[in-house]
Amino acid sequence: MKIAFAKPGRPKKGAIVVSVAEGGALSPTAAALDAEAGGLIGKAIAGSRFTGKAHQTLTVFTAAGRLLLYGVGDPAKFDLTWAETAGGGIYAALAHSGEKEVTIVMESGDERRAERAAHLALGAELRSYRFDKYRTTLKAEDKPSLEKLTVMVDGHSRAQKIYDVEAAIAEGVAFTRDLVSEPPNVLYPISFAERCLELKKLGVDVEVLGEKEMAKLGMHALLGVGQGSRRESRMVVMRWNGAGKGVQPVAFVGKGVCFDTGGISIKPAGGMEDMKFDMAGAGVVAGLMQALAGRKANANVIGVIGLVENMPDGNAQRPSDVVTSMSGQTIEIINTDAEGRLVLADALWYTQDKYKPAFMVDLATLTGAMMVALGEETCGYFSNDDKLSDALKAAGDAIGEAVWRMPLGDAYNKQMDSDIADMKNAGARWGGAITAACFLERFVNKTPWVHMDIAGVAWSRKDRGTTPKGASGFGVRALDRLVRDYVEKA
Ligand code: BES
Ligand code: MN
Ligand code: ZN
Repeated sequence: MKIAFAKPGRPKKGAIVVSVAEGGALSPTAAALDAEAGGLIGKAIAGSRFTGKAHQTLTVFTAAGRLLLYGVGDPAKFDLTWAETAGGGIYAALAHSGEKEVTIVMESGDERRAERAAHLALGAELRSYRFDKYRTTLKAEDKPSLEKLTVMVDGHSRAQKIYDVEAAIAEGVAFTRDLVSEPPNVLYPISFAERCLELKKLGVDVEVLGEKEMAKLGMHALLGVGQGSRRESRMVVMRWNGAGKGVQPVAFVGKGVCFDTGGISIKPAGGMEDMKFDMAGAGVVAGLMQALAGRKANANVIGVIGLVENMPDGNAQRPSDVVTSMSGQTIEIINTDAEGRLVLADALWYTQDKYKPAFMVDLATLTGAMMVALGEETCGYFSNDDKLSDALKAAGDAIGEAVWRMPLGDAYNKQMDSDIADMKNAGARWGGAITAACFLERFVNKTPWVHMDIAGVAWSRKDRGTTPKGASGFGVRALDRLVRDYVEKA
């Protein structure tokens, strides 16, 4: 969708969106249109249940065309995430209306209006994402009609400047959503790595490690997961050097299980198709790198993703196998479906060992237990560092991705001890998200670290404010914000 910003005025074509505060007071433009239309708008409001409550909409046709009244509710709650949700709501209300153009007329005299205008547009852009690549019979009338969105606001060039930065982040989110939406016959470790190579165009350094190189490094935890697949495993290291030489980097590490059958501990058939998104952690890291490079972040950032396919063939690893990870620690495989932590064990160890980052954040669709705990609304995370943890919480709150800290601790950690090896890869049933995090902590070697279990939030089964149904890209924006506030401003 094309996005533009313009001086306030009377839109010449397309739909017009004006805001209405709780209680129904019309904005100046709405009042002028109402007067021209002989009080039609006031009558439409009076004859409906529209009261201007937040995110309510009412469509009225006048001689000037389609008018969408958008409820802003209590103006005190009108923050930037509110603006984004409103942008998403306006897009959803008009996308399939038949209108090609829409102009949102912002009339507030508020000091932050340019910022709000930019975030309104960002919300619309994020909500307009679609993945239609494989829908060959989609008819024109089933596709969105909306092509252009203009926000009229006093200070429009400032709004445009702010939006230009946000647009880079929206592109990162779209890249993540594309990767996560792809079916696993198209997106597998080698093809995923190839998609990452495209980031070179933005100035990202991209290095791909093959199985031989990983074997040489001793990554047998990761390689063990991939050994039952016809598809070779890969590790991709992406580097954005926005802060120049000598500045300590920060690192993001992603679980990239391109398909998770469970392996020999095979999953039941029902719902197994969801496991194409078991590479979402890696998808978020790739999208984050795109966002950071796209907005030329003033930070040195490493993105590491472990790419495998978890399949059950004659060469697959077995429950009771013992593997040696790159760290030297040995792992007894209890359940081959607890594979994500095996991939991350080597990816985390490699990252801290080679790059000595100031902190590491890993993302993984790691456990069903995380979904039992927090559902599909909030991402649970774990950390060994209170400052980093608080910074992530603040970043998530600021951009509207809900995160909630979960506990670690010795009592959980010791449940991962094994009788035959240094640890086992699966513990008892209860607290499964926590014991998984404790397993990962054994590979972070004191580096300040956060583990985000995105199992519940990576895929949305319904439309939400700025996220259409499907791959959400959850994490790209929170982590971009973490880099902005905790790294670039530090
Ligand atoms: N990829 C799954 C977790 C998952 C489930 C993500 C549903 C998203 C939606 C992971 O590899 C897995 O299978 N975890 C097991 C671990 C168990 C065997 C210890 C689980 O959660 O059941
Ligand atoms: Mn699994
Ligand atoms: Zn998995």
